[in-house]
Amino acid sequence: METRPMLEVTNLNVSYGQSRVLFGVSLVFPANEVCVIVGRNGAGKTTLLRTIAGFLKPRPGSVTFDGQEITGWRPYKIARMGVKYVPQDKGVFSDLTVRENLELASYAMRDRDWEKVFRYFPKLRELLNRKGAQLSGGERQMLMIGRAILGKTSVLLLDEPSEGLAPTVVQDLVGTFRQLRQHASLVLVEQNLAVARELADRLYLTKEGKIVAQITDKNEIRSLAFEKEL
Ligand SMILES: Nc1ncnc2c1ncn2[C@@H]1O[C@H](COP(=O)(O)OP(=O)(O)OP(=O)(O)O)[C@@H](O)[C@H]1O
Ligand SMILES: [Mg+2]
Repeated sequence: METRPMLEVTNLNVSYGQSRVLFGVSLVFPANEVCVIVGRNGAGKTTLLRTIAGFLKPRPGSVTFDGQEITGWRPYKIARMGVKYVPQDKGVFSDLTVRENLELASYAMRDRDWEKVFRYFPKLRELLNRKGAQLSGGERQMLMIGRAILGKTSVLLLDEPSEGLAPTVVQDLVGTFRQLRQHASLVLVEQNLAVARELADRLYLTKEGKIVAQITDKNEIRSLAFEKEL
C-alpha cells in the first residue's frame, strides 16, 4: 500500500474573475520527495502554488496536508501548519536588513533557531547587516528560503527559484534542495530543465491549466524529451 502523501490536491479549479485558469488539477506530493512542475508560461503553475498556500480559493477543489483538509484556510495558518511558500518574485523587504527580515519571519513563525538557517545558508550570517536591496539575486533567494524554513516546515513550495541566477549559484541551490529534501517535501516549479532532471523524483507536466503527464520513474525523467512541450 502506498503511504499517505504529505500534500494532496484534488480536482482543483481556480479562476480569476470570469477567467478559469486551473481545470480539475489533481496531484500528490509524497513526503521527502522532490516534485517538479513544468509547463509553458501561463500554464497556471504559480496559480497552483498560490492556491495551495491559501492565497486563492479553489471552486471547487480540495487541498489536504498530512490527511487534514486545509482548503480555504488563511495563508498564515497554512504556513504555521508547515506548508511554506517561496514566491516567484524573490521579494524580500528591501529597506530592511537580512537580520530584520529574519526577525520578522521568526516573529511570524515563533521560531528563533537561526542556526538552522545558517546551516543551509552560511553566507547569510555574514550578510546579517546588509539591506535587502543590496543583495544579489542568489543572496535574496537564500534569504527567501531561509525565512521560509523557520518554524515547522513539512512542505516547501518554490516558484522558479533558479530563475535569473548564475549557473554556479543554481548548482549551490540544487545541493541545498538535496539536503532540504531529507526533512521536507519539495514542490518545485522549474523551467530550468537540467535542474528539473537532476532533482525530480516525480515530474508533473502542466498545459493550459491541466496536468497532461505525470512521471514517477527517475530514469524516465532523466531521459525524457519534454522540451518540445515547453
Ligand atoms: N491576478 C491575475 N488576474 C487575472 N489573470 C491572472 C492573474 N494571475 C495570472 N493570471 C492568468 O492566469 C494564467 C496562469 O498564470 P500563472 O501565473 O499561474 O502561470 P505560470 O504557469 O506561473 O506562468 P509563468 O511560467 O509565466 O510564471 C495566465 O493566463 C495569466 O495571465
Ligand atoms: Mg509562474
